[in-house]
Formats: sequence, C-alpha cells, structure tokens
Amino acid sequence: MPVFLRRPGQLLAVVVLVMQPVGGLGVQCPVPDITHGQLKPAQNFTYGSTATLECDDGYVPVGAITTVRCLGSGRWHPRVPACTLGRCPYPPAVEHADQSSQHEFPVGTTVTYFCRLGYTLLPEVSPITTCLKNFTWSVIPKLCQKVQCPSPALRHGTEVRPRKAEYTFGHQVEFRCDPGYVLRGSQRIQCWSDGTWRPPVPYCDKVCGPPPKITNGQHSGSRTEQFPYGFEVKYSCGEGLSLIGDDSIYCTSDDGVNLAWSGPAPECRVVRCPKPTVERGRMTPQRFTFPYGAAVRFSCDEGFMLQGDAESRCLADSTWHPPLPTCQPVLCPQPQVVNGRLKSTLEGKTWYQTNATVTFECLHGYHFSDDGDVSLEDSWTATCLPDGTWTPLPKCRKEGDADVCEEVHYIKTVFECGVPMAEVKTLLEIEKLFLEIKKLKVELENLNK
Ligand SMILES: *[C@@H]1O[C@H](CO)[C@@H](O)[C@H](O)[C@H]1NC(C)=O
Ligand SMILES: *[C@@H]1O[C@H](CO)[C@@H](O)[C@H](O)[C@H]1NC(C)=O
Ligand SMILES: *[C@@H]1O[C@H](CO)[C@@H](O)[C@H](O)[C@H]1NC(C)=O
Repeated sequence: MPVFLRRPGQLLAVVVLVMQPVGGLGVQCPVPDITHGQLKPAQNFTYGSTATLECDDGYVPVGAITTVRCLGSGRWHPRVPACTLGRCPYPPAVEHADQSSQHEFPVGTTVTYFCRLGYTLLPEVSPITTCLKNFTWSVIPKLCQKVQCPSPALRHGTEVRPRKAEYTFGHQVEFRCDPGYVLRGSQRIQCWSDGTWRPPVPYCDKVCGPPPKITNGQHSGSRTEQFPYGFEVKYSCGEGLSLIGDDSIYCTSDDGVNLAWSGPAPECRVVRCPKPTVERGRMTPQRFTFPYGAAVRFSCDEGFMLQGDAESRCLADSTWHPPLPTCQPVLCPQPQVVNGRLKSTLEGKTWYQTNATVTFECLHGYHFSDDGDVSLEDSWTATCLPDGTWTPLPKCRKEGDADVCEEVHYIKTVFECGVPMAEVKTLLEIEKLFLEIKKLKVELENLNK
C-alpha cells in the first residue's frame, strides 16, 4: 500500500512488509509497559494497526515520534518511547522582584520571588509560584509595592512643593516654616527603603523677633531677624556713655509656648556721680569723675573709725549707694582698776575720746605696784590712745604682798641670763634692804595716823 513512499530505506521497509504477509495475519503486538503513560487506543494491537503514546499529566514523550505501528513480527515500530517529567519555561518576570536562582524547572518545582530594595511584599500575597502539570506557572499576582513613608506632617510649616497623596521610597520633601518660626533639622528629607525619613523630619520652632533697639547704643543681633530659643544678644553703648541695666538679654519663654526677650533693653546715658567727700577720711581710687557703676573704697584717718559701708557705687541716678560712710572718733571704754578708783568722780564717763586722761588712786591700804616694785606715788595717769586702748593702767596691791612668786620668777630669769652669782647676791641684798625700808616707812605712816 505505501507505494508512494519515495525514500530508498522506506521502500525497503515496504518490501519487508510485503515479504512477510503470512506471519503478519492474526499477529498481535504486546501491550507495552509504559510508566506515566499509555498507548491509545489501548488494545486490539493487530498487525498493521497504529497507536499513539499519551503521557500522564505533567509528562511528555521522549523524542518527537509518538505514533507506533504494530509489525507483522509482533513488535512495535519504532520502539514505543518513554514518558518523562515535563518542564516549565523560565518563570515570568515580576515587577520590582527577583527570583531564587534556579535553572531547571521540572513540573512541581517552586520558585520564590523577592521584592527589590525599596519595595515591599503586598499583604496576603504569596511570592511562590509552582510549575504546573500543564507546564505553565501558577498565577503570580502583583507582588511588590513601593515602600511607603509616613506623611511628614510639619506643624507651623509647609512643604515647598505640593504634597503628594503618598510618600514612597526615594521621594524627597522640602520644608518651609511659617513666619515667626525657624526650621530645626534638615530642610530636605528623603523617604528611605526601610520606610523612614532621613534625615529625620524637622520641626518648626518659635522664634523671637528682632531685639529692641536703643538710642546711643547697639546690640550684637543686628544681622538676623529671627532668633531661636536661648539666643543671647549683648548691648553696648557709645563712647562716654554708661550702660544702665543688664548688658544682655536672651530669647526665652515664660509660658513654655511663646518666646520673648528676657527683659527690657538697657539704656545708654551719661551718668556722673559727684566726687564723694568723707571728712577725716580717705578714698581709693582718686578720680575727678565717677561714671555709672564705679566703686570707691573709704578709710579713716588715725583715731577715727568708719561708720557705714567701706565701699560705695555710683548709681544711674548719679547718687552713691550704699550712702557714703562717716569717720567717727575712736573712743576708749571706761578703764577699770582692781582695788583702785578715779581720783575725781567728775572724770567718770562711759566713753573717752582720744587724748583724754584719767587719774587713778588706790583704795586705802593699797599701793601702786609695777612688776613687784611698790611705788609710793599717790596718783597714776592714763591716756586714751587713738586705737581705743589706754596707756598702761596701774595695779593696786596690798602692802607686803609684793608677789613672792613674781620675785622668784625674776630671780630665776636673772640666773638664766648668766649673771654672775656674786652680782645676784648683791642685788638680792639691796632688794631686801629696800623692802625693809619700805616696810618701815609704812609702819611709820600707820603710827602717824
Ligand atoms: C477487538 O477486535 C475484535 C475483532 O475485530 C472485536 O470483536 C473486539 O470487540 C475488539 N475489542 C475491543 C475491546 O475493541
Ligand atoms: C494550566 O492549569 C491551570 C490549573 O490547572 C489552569 O488554570 C490554566 O488555565 C492551565 N493553563 C493552560 C495554558 O492551559
Ligand atoms: C592727740 O594728741 C596728739 C599729740 O598732742 C595730737 O597730735 C593729736 O592730733 C591729738 N588727737 C586728737 C584726736 O585730738
């Protein structure tokens, strides 16, 4: 039958077929054992019949020929091909995503996608696709969306260019503060791949306006119009003028909300205090004119003491403060002598001026004594000194009680000074004589009374 075949080999096959007609009649080909596939039709494989290989789902025939013919010899020609696991093509590209690196994609293989930098997986989608039995990939929905940053809300400020509905990865925003506010932080920020703004979102801070101007003076803040919290401005006056008040003010807040300058600006004025005069006193420094704030120190002449403050300052109203002191004469207190009294009761005062004198006498039975020597003088004069003390006051002692101890002490001192013994003896003897004479005198006096 297939006489129209032209190629020599096949012509030969036809010849073979023709030459085996006898054995071919009633011959059946076997049902081949095919894993993952079968022939169709599935039986009645008689001589000359053809059958086609059908592989199970997910499998494909090996080779291009799938139709076989049953020969008269009871064999299939060509040999029944096998079924092998099919493959999917390279998985499709997904926007803003990369996939796990694989090269072979047999049925059942899964491939996972990853969102690229700046993109994030949409909620409730699976980034995994599977190679199906019909050699296509399971449907991949839209997987990745751009990372979003929160809306950079700026109080008391606006974005320079109109606001967009969404702020996504890479988006840049520039800010401007409302008048009366100053920007703290970066003026331009960018939405980062992790969904944060970098640098961080700035804020608008209240500012103080220009500080008050003053006549005849200037301040250090003349270059700008806006001053942030804590900014300090210093004032200075023209030459020869005094600055009255605080020389600096700063931007501060009383209520924690509004900003204002900490106080009024100082004044620049000509201030001259009169040269201070304190009688019987001196002052430093010595000057002819005293500007605002100048300080002067006072002291008194000898015999006088300062009453009031030793230092005074020139005030803005050209007065001295604290008020100038005075120099008052130094006084001596009333002197006291044990067993003695003032010769005249008229001399009795609580305080005595410098150079005042008082005269003492000892009480009855007592005598002036000076270091053991009993003086027979009957009066003793003391003078009030400029430092408020008296010249030495007398001691009144009872006769004979010339202090033995003092005497011993005196003798001891003499010894220690290395006075020759003979001399000491002489001295002591003279002393003894002197005392005896004194004793006699006193006794004589007593007899006379
Ligand atoms: C096989 O072929 C024979 C004869 O042609 C027929 O009688 C039989 O029904 C066929 N069997 C099937 C299962 O088709
Ligand atoms: C392949 O199979 C899947 C699931 O069985 C089906 O949804 C899809 O349409 C099929 N694709 C083709 C090209 O037949
Ligand atoms: C006290 O006397 C001295 C010596 O006479 C005199 O220089 C001095 O000025 C006097 N002082 C007063 C406060 O009178």
